[in-house]
Amino acid sequence: MPRAPDGRAFMPTPVTSSAPGKVILLGEHAVVFGEPAIAVAINKRTRVKVTDGEGDVSRVNGFPLSKQYHVHLALAVERLAPGEVVDLVTESQVVSAAGTGSSAALTVAVVHALLRRAGKLVPGDEETVAREAYEIEWLAQNGRGSPTDTSVATHGHGVIVAEEAFDELLWTVKKGPRRWRLHHLDLPPMTLVVGNTHERGRTMEQVAKVGRFVKQSGFGREIIRDLGVATRQGLVALASGDAIALGDAMDRAQNGLETLGVSTRKLERACAAARDAGALGAKLTGSGGGGSMIALVQGDPLPIAKAINRTGCSVFVTALGVEGVRAEDKR
Ligand code: MEV
Repeated sequence: MPRAPDGRAFMPTPVTSSAPGKVILLGEHAVVFGEPAIAVAINKRTRVKVTDGEGDVSRVNGFPLSKQYHVHLALAVERLAPGEVVDLVTESQVVSAAGTGSSAALTVAVVHALLRRAGKLVPGDEETVAREAYEIEWLAQNGRGSPTDTSVATHGHGVIVAEEAFDELLWTVKKGPRRWRLHHLDLPPMTLVVGNTHERGRTMEQVAKVGRFVKQSGFGREIIRDLGVATRQGLVALASGDAIALGDAMDRAQNGLETLGVSTRKLERACAAARDAGALGAKLTGSGGGGSMIALVQGDPLPIAKAINRTGCSVFVTALGVEGVRAEDKR
């Protein structure tokens, strides 16, 4: 039976939390090296239900919980319910390995549920959840990556990640030589179409590949700096409500990401089709190597969604300004 810090035992009722997926508007990969990034939550969520388990192994969706197959969940249980047996049930609208933040949404939802179950979370304390979820992602990714995905899955809405300070600071995360400041970003009304190539992109591999390139080559570091310039252009465009300039920044970022080697032909065909159909800008989103692309739309998204779909991607139009992690029960 779980116990609160004061020794009080909690009822073994289920605890359910959910967190949103995300897209990176600008700055993926470069953010790992200290350049800014802009991430936004999307209207697809992952739910995790935690119940006291029976027997001597924890389970996920009826299967024994194993670090090999469920590394994020296993780490979360090891850290937040040590020595306990729990049953986890997961349910996700966020497609995995698609660049839309499936592992961050899962990690944030399970962390939120386990902390609440243990009586260790003050309602509204996003920072504790974001920090713990980032530690887990970082361990799962062999010590790589930034707190971007876990922070936006926790906070929702829009998040600016930067070394420098902006308004509306949420929290600061340090890891080795890096310091990231996470800020709330109010999003202007805008429409994004997301196209999933169904080529599986693996964040850990792509981040490791870019890491090697940047370490070995001055050209690699130049591309990272240029991606940072594109993100800063995007921030100015967002602040002034200039959708055309934001689209230009996205196209510039896509160029950089192609040079970095994380794009694919299919992503590029989808971006080109979106632009031909009238998108203001289009780029891959997330770690690349497959996964998804996003297109910025003014007006009716349908022609652009159809054009992306004709390149073999499945598509959805996302609402923005989505809520972050939340309890899905009354506790
Ligand atoms: C993945 O969604 C974003 C990357 O920048 C990795 C990271 O920031 O951890 C590619």
